[in-house]
Amino acid sequence: MMQVCVVGLGYIGLPTAAMLASRGHEVIGCDINPRTLRMVGAGQASFQEPDLQMLLSAAVQTGRLRVQATPAEAECYILAVPTPFGPGKQPDLSFVEAATDAIAPLLRRGAVVILESTAPVGATEAVTARLAAARPDLRFPRHGEEDAEAEIRVAHCPERILPGSMLRELVANDRIIGGVTEACARAALRLYESFVTGQCYLTDCRTAEFVKLIENSYRDVNIAFANELSLIGDRLGVDVWRAIELANRHPRVAILQPGAGVGGHCIAVDPWFLVAAVPETARLIRAAREVNDAKPDWVAERILRHAARFRDPVVACFGLAYKPDVDDLRESPSVAIAERLARQGNLTLLVVEPHVAALPPALAGLDNVTLVDMATACREADIIAFLVGHKPFRRLDLQGLLGKVVVDAIGLMR
Ligand SMILES: NC(=O)c1ccc[n+]([C@@H]2O[C@H](COP(=O)([O-])OP(=O)(O)OC[C@H]3O[C@@H](n4cnc5c(N)ncnc54)[C@H](O)[C@@H]3O)[C@@H](O)[C@H]2O)c1
Repeated sequence: MMQVCVVGLGYIGLPTAAMLASRGHEVIGCDINPRTLRMVGAGQASFQEPDLQMLLSAAVQTGRLRVQATPAEAECYILAVPTPFGPGKQPDLSFVEAATDAIAPLLRRGAVVILESTAPVGATEAVTARLAAARPDLRFPRHGEEDAEAEIRVAHCPERILPGSMLRELVANDRIIGGVTEACARAALRLYESFVTGQCYLTDCRTAEFVKLIENSYRDVNIAFANELSLIGDRLGVDVWRAIELANRHPRVAILQPGAGVGGHCIAVDPWFLVAAVPETARLIRAAREVNDAKPDWVAERILRHAARFRDPVVACFGLAYKPDVDDLRESPSVAIAERLARQGNLTLLVVEPHVAALPPALAGLDNVTLVDMATACREADIIAFLVGHKPFRRLDLQGLLGKVVVDAIGLMR
């Protein structure tokens, strides 16, 4: 068993910390957000995720998971801090740099540092170089140069868990572990072997970084294809859902479903890291991002066109989360659609989002927006817009919507 310090207790760090504690590791979780620290310290999950609450309560009660505002000395460090993009869609590594600076003084000989945050190619080497600059007393590995004398091991192990199935996938998914050197990858493997039942594949850190970015770019490009088809189908008067269903009867075709756009902190962000690295070459990846980013406006336009036919239109948006059955509203296309409607249209906006108790900041200050339940929305709205395929929406009695205008961005009515 190891002492592990998990830096960043968000959607990735918290389940990882709780899982490690459940396997007997001694875990210190640290976060700069006081609310997160308060909640997690009291054994309270700071977001909804099946089984997380149970695992976390046990981890905190047994004392295997403790939290504090700054990192603690440990044998292994996992960095799970945000990696958003900044101005010009350039990767913003400031959180990774701050976390790196925070652990640097604590490193002792033999420590393993694992970057779990999704990062541009070269980031793990940059972390290593930053640590080396801060700790000239320790010998650090260099990419591609096996060095038996290196005293610190650094690796990148990107996360690919699916919100809603995080704990199951944390254990069952295959992992890619990319070391700055092979010895680094092997050192990181020892930790993952303690809870992963999937295969762990060892490689170098650059490849591991690239693998994560191309996984999410693959998803983005394929979703963009479906979203583009929805626009083309609309112009040509073809039901895109039926067309995709029929096309997928081809043994080598598997088109995804169109939606309201692409959100979350992964698929909507990570492809930009490739575009930023090689803008003149990553043309398809950029086009896909642009297609997906344009979809919320297209959906909003359609709703506004319908709304223009009413005197005092009441519009109900079903769903704010960036994907079905989660409470995560980050980068959500549905929030963007709701905000655009509320700001632009002369209308009353009802929002149904069973996974949140209050409107997000983008909508909270707007007088014409109210968070309501499904029944109220169905009763009072002239226009119903399905934006997210949450399970309760799928169980809705569609008979109750007779006489309403329905804008179905996600194929829920099919
Ligand atoms: N959420 C996902 O489904 C998912 C999936 C795969 C990969 N990732 C990647 O994992 C990384 C983390 O994502 P997330 O969704 O957990 O983000 P998050 O915003 O939910 O959590 C990050 C946490 O780090 C904390 N933090 C920021 N700077 C810190 C610092 N210097 N010291 C300590 N804590 C700090 C924040 O307060 C926050 O609680 C990102 O790179 C993301 O792209 C996320």
